[in-house]
Amino acid sequence: MSILHHEFLHGGDYNPDQWLERPDILAQDVEQMKRAHVNTITLGVFSWNTLETEEGRYDFSFLEERIRTLYEHGIYTILATPSGARPIWMAYQYPEVLRVDEDGQRNLVGERHNHCYTSPVYREKTRAMDMALAKRFGKHPGVIAWHISNEFGGACWCDKCHEAFREFLKVRYGSLDALNKAWWTSFWSHTYDSWEHVHAPTRRGERATHGLNLDWKRFCSHQTADFCAWEKQAIRDGGSDLPVTSNFMGFYGGLNYANFRNILDFVSWDSYPDWHSTEQTDADLAQEIACTADYMRCMQKDRQPFLLMESTPSVTNWHRISRLKRPGMHMLSSMQTVAHGSDSVLYFQWRKGRGASEKFHGAVLDHDATEEKRVFRDVQDVGKRLESLREICGSLVRPRAAVILDQENRWALEDCFGPRVSGIHYMETVQQHHAALWKLGISADVIDADCSLMDYKLVVAPMLYLLRPGVAERLQDFVEGGGTLVGTYQMGLVDEHDLCFEGRVPHGLTEVFGLHREEIDSLWEGQSNHTVWNGTTCTLTELCERVHPDTAKVLSVYAEDFYAGEPVLTVHPYGKGHAYYLTARAEDKLLTALYRKIGPDSGVSPCMDAEFPDGVTVTERVGSDTAWLFVQNWNPCEVFIILHEMLIDAESGAPVTNTLCLPGYAVRILKRTAEKR
Ligand code: GAL
Repeated sequence: MSILHHEFLHGGDYNPDQWLERPDILAQDVEQMKRAHVNTITLGVFSWNTLETEEGRYDFSFLEERIRTLYEHGIYTILATPSGARPIWMAYQYPEVLRVDEDGQRNLVGERHNHCYTSPVYREKTRAMDMALAKRFGKHPGVIAWHISNEFGGACWCDKCHEAFREFLKVRYGSLDALNKAWWTSFWSHTYDSWEHVHAPTRRGERATHGLNLDWKRFCSHQTADFCAWEKQAIRDGGSDLPVTSNFMGFYGGLNYANFRNILDFVSWDSYPDWHSTEQTDADLAQEIACTADYMRCMQKDRQPFLLMESTPSVTNWHRISRLKRPGMHMLSSMQTVAHGSDSVLYFQWRKGRGASEKFHGAVLDHDATEEKRVFRDVQDVGKRLESLREICGSLVRPRAAVILDQENRWALEDCFGPRVSGIHYMETVQQHHAALWKLGISADVIDADCSLMDYKLVVAPMLYLLRPGVAERLQDFVEGGGTLVGTYQMGLVDEHDLCFEGRVPHGLTEVFGLHREEIDSLWEGQSNHTVWNGTTCTLTELCERVHPDTAKVLSVYAEDFYAGEPVLTVHPYGKGHAYYLTARAEDKLLTALYRKIGPDSGVSPCMDAEFPDGVTVTERVGSDTAWLFVQNWNPCEVFIILHEMLIDAESGAPVTNTLCLPGYAVRILKRTAEKR
């Protein structure tokens, strides 16, 4: 995929409906966009009221004029459906479009994202609008894609949502008896004898039935995806075949983005890291962003490039502290997303509005609209660099390693009472494993447990507590066929209903790992255990599982406590592959040592042969006969990287050998052609 004729997209959200009475500004925008090297903007995200000032009276003239003028100047439009916020008149005319909160109270008018995805009225209004937009602009040469709604999320507890929830459960379970069994409702005498009595979990009602909690989250995600599909259908029925996306929010916990995989034609993502804080180093934050980008890319059907739909050209207004990006950081962080598979750098937003809550959010143009500013120049530089790198556009990120991050598993684990109510730290653990690979220059996909494992040689499944049917079998086949699997404590304990498996655990995988679990110790803050592996002493904290190594080989053991001498790290040959198991939460250096060894053993090597100082990493995109290596320095100071191979600077064409010097917060893009591999 390359949406724009093999050009990276550069530009972002544009809200001219806030400036309709200022034709001078609208004319100036286009000229300034060209000087900023903008080639794509997103129009109409929050334009509903301008498009339909009163019920049924559509006026698309401003969109028509903007799309045409921009196109005449070589700037393309991603056209949004405006369903992320409703006009005031609609909420008064049809109160049912507003959400009902967990306590059963309907929200008042206002805000965005404050609408019910089930409401037939909201669906009808959205469909009529989307069809009309598609009819009018769906074949416009200036429009390249549809942006459905905005940052889907949240939930509604209205009667209509409850009815839809019960229908969802009827399809899922077939009978109330099956539901009662799946939810273990004999607990506390909560057996249902009527579908009408099934109520969503709330803080004033039921929250202890974990199967209900999990199914409610599934339902909310399903219903939101269904609304998205509804909008897509309206666009198609309006006669437009253009590709469709919606902007995701990375690790947002309210949705399972996998539900959108078969709806969207490509994924896009809004990324707002708060660089330069005192809470984590830029390198640590960059790792988190790398992991998020890898997750977003894998939410796409075919792992084609995705789009960075929003990022800030300077600061946000909603981070606790809005620290300015240090020189170099705008380029580095923009290129990082490209390195992880984005075919765009798009911003929120083009021009700062004068009022309301985003008036101090960073934008390409400040209130004075001058181009003599660092932010404008930074944006220009990114635009120019993307133009010079156009040969990379459309190329892929194709790792041979994958880390499993499964949203249903996250929901179940985080809802679980015990063994650590004070914080199970699933997401941190996934990121920690991803970080260990990233720091070694080993690219990884971040996939959910239903994804095919065929492309991988190394699969890491941290804390894969919930196993849907087929998952254990797929992991088993993967190892049997020659793959290397890393599993950890808290694996394979419950089924898709959050019901504990009977028999030995990790369920379905005891033969693969050659061990079974006895119990798990949860440690207080300040308590720890230790292990020594390959000469490295590592601290173990939070969770220490006790396992019996039936046929597994023990690689390292607990040093302390009554379970001293019992396994911490094991390996088990199975079929043509190997299954490693880690029984405790280990500090980073154990994971680094582990992946440094088993990466190459399993056929997964760093994408560049070099010695990286701390805070420096490399990510690879591949084309048919070229690999592009994005070498990133997340330190504020200059670093030297010792290269063990000869590469070419992708921009200057000059050969690069021996030592690569990177200034603070800089990124160099090198390439390796097929004959050099
Ligand atoms: C995003 C949202 C944009 C804008 C931006 C500000 O979450 O989609 O509309 O509000 O945040 O950072």
